[in-house]
Amino acid sequence: MSVNSKLYEGKAKILYATEDPEVLLADFKDDATAFNAQKRGSIQNKGIINCSISSQLFQQLAKQGIQTHFIDSPAPNLMRVKAVKIIPLEVVVRNIAAGSLCQQTGLILGTVLSQPLVEFYYKRDDLGDPLLTRDRLLLLELATTEQVEQITHLALQINEFLQQFWEKCHITLVDFKLEFGVDSQQQILLADEISPDTCRLWDIDQTDPNSRIMDKDRFRRDLGNVENAYQEVLQRVLKVVEGYKIG
Ligand code: TMP
Ligand code: ASP
Repeated sequence: MSVNSKLYEGKAKILYATEDPEVLLADFKDDATAFNAQKRGSIQNKGIINCSISSQLFQQLAKQGIQTHFIDSPAPNLMRVKAVKIIPLEVVVRNIAAGSLCQQTGLILGTVLSQPLVEFYYKRDDLGDPLLTRDRLLLLELATTEQVEQITHLALQINEFLQQFWEKCHITLVDFKLEFGVDSQQQILLADEISPDTCRLWDIDQTDPNSRIMDKDRFRRDLGNVENAYQEVLQRVLKVVEGYKIG
């Protein structure tokens, strides 16, 4: 596979052009950042683990009729993806109160929300990724009204599937972040990644509020055993996917 120039280097991935202008190659890095890159570090094997988990989840979502940018994974840390123009929104879906929702509303950590909450954040590191209102989003022309409706519907559909999938892994899906892109036919595709970097995942079998954490909060809060937790998530995902193939 011949790879052309580096197009973009983000905090967690490097994107390369390929000989096909419709196809990009994403290289998942071990680098980890938090709090808008004020905290930096590395999680051993994170690139391979997150690329593998994302690849499995994108394939499962495709089976549910959700269009994603995933094409294939030519190596454990590499994903070939459809070239899309990323919509500069971080779409967060929450099922249980945690993180910034608790900090900004006073809701108690672990409060089960009566219905999933979909939020839009402006993907702008220089502004600290602020929470947007729908009117601000439209004012800035980050997406059209129709796209906002479509993205909200897709985010809720993805949440329905992922909640069930993670439950089969004995994991509670607390919240997660999605990014969407627009392809050359103006279709909205799910892009970026779905991994312990972008989801809050709690082990159903653990009641201790720190021991149950299987996601990037272990890194954010210096809880230790970060790689072990990520590895465990991958092993559970592979087991559930294997079960689908057999059953
Ligand atoms: P928050 O509670 O910090 O707003 O995070 C909500 C979810 O979004 C959580 O699952 C972590 C994920 N997330 C990202 O993937 N990238 C980010 O930059 C942030 C702030 C959160
Ligand atoms: N990904 C974000 C950053 O580095 C924040 C986070 O995930 O906490 O800066």
